Amino acid sequence: MSEKKRHAAIVLAAGKGSRMKSDVPKQYLILNGKPVLYYALRAFEDSFVDEIVLVTGAGQESYCQKEIVEKYGFQKVTHVIAGGKERYDSVYRGICALDGADYVYIHDGARPFIDDALLLRAKENVEQYHACAAGMPSKDTIKIVDKDGFVADTPQRKYTWMIQTPQVFDYPLIHDAYEQLYQHMPEVQITDDAMVVETMLQTPVKLYEGSYNNIKITTPEDLVIAESFLHV
Ligand code: CTP
Ligand code: MG
Repeated sequence: MSEKKRHAAIVLAAGKGSRMKSDVPKQYLILNGKPVLYYALRAFEDSFVDEIVLVTGAGQESYCQKEIVEKYGFQKVTHVIAGGKERYDSVYRGICALDGADYVYIHDGARPFIDDALLLRAKENVEQYHACAAGMPSKDTIKIVDKDGFVADTPQRKYTWMIQTPQVFDYPLIHDAYEQLYQHMPEVQITDDAMVVETMLQTPVKLYEGSYNNIKITTPEDLVIAESFLHV
């Protein structure tokens, strides 16, 4: 019989939330009585995932440990660590904190609406494809623009997807991709983990079906939408 695989999650909560324009970082804002960050941790805690690394802002570790991990009894959180300046710095610290794993689920703590079905799709896809990202087909037409805001290209809508998290990888593969990133930092801005793999490795990244509810809380109106999802 094959050995049981180890699934680890890295939940990112080290951002400043500048687009939210609130005094409190958005991951700690209250949504239906609980912090935004609670919901993603709850989904991983109640899933097949074995271990969770929570990456938070420097100086927020003990707040997270007491007011979130202990308060809500998240037993799978093995590390609460400080993130870095950019999202990819926070991810890299999370990867290094893990004492090995077979698969890593990298997730924005600002996306509260992951559920069991989505996590199972993530699991099936990573086991088959090794590098995967959640996404949904774009509802709107997407345009590529030049630096002056003129349209440079219009990709066919059937080929444009909006990318979400969890982004899920074989652990050695994502570890290698991030090691290479720090050796050959590209000029372009790195905005997700799939991009690190695309840029640094030859491995193709498979998109799997996320959900239209799996929004990232980014600007104030997202909180209104999120509240409405919790009350349907
Ligand atoms: N994140 C992180 N470390 C960073 C930047 C972002 O862990 N240095 C996390 C955020 O906490 C969030 C996720 O990455 O859960 C997605 O990032 P984003 O939505 O851009 O959040 P912020 O960077 O906090 O927001 P903004 O860009 O508006 O400042
Ligand atoms: Mg950001």
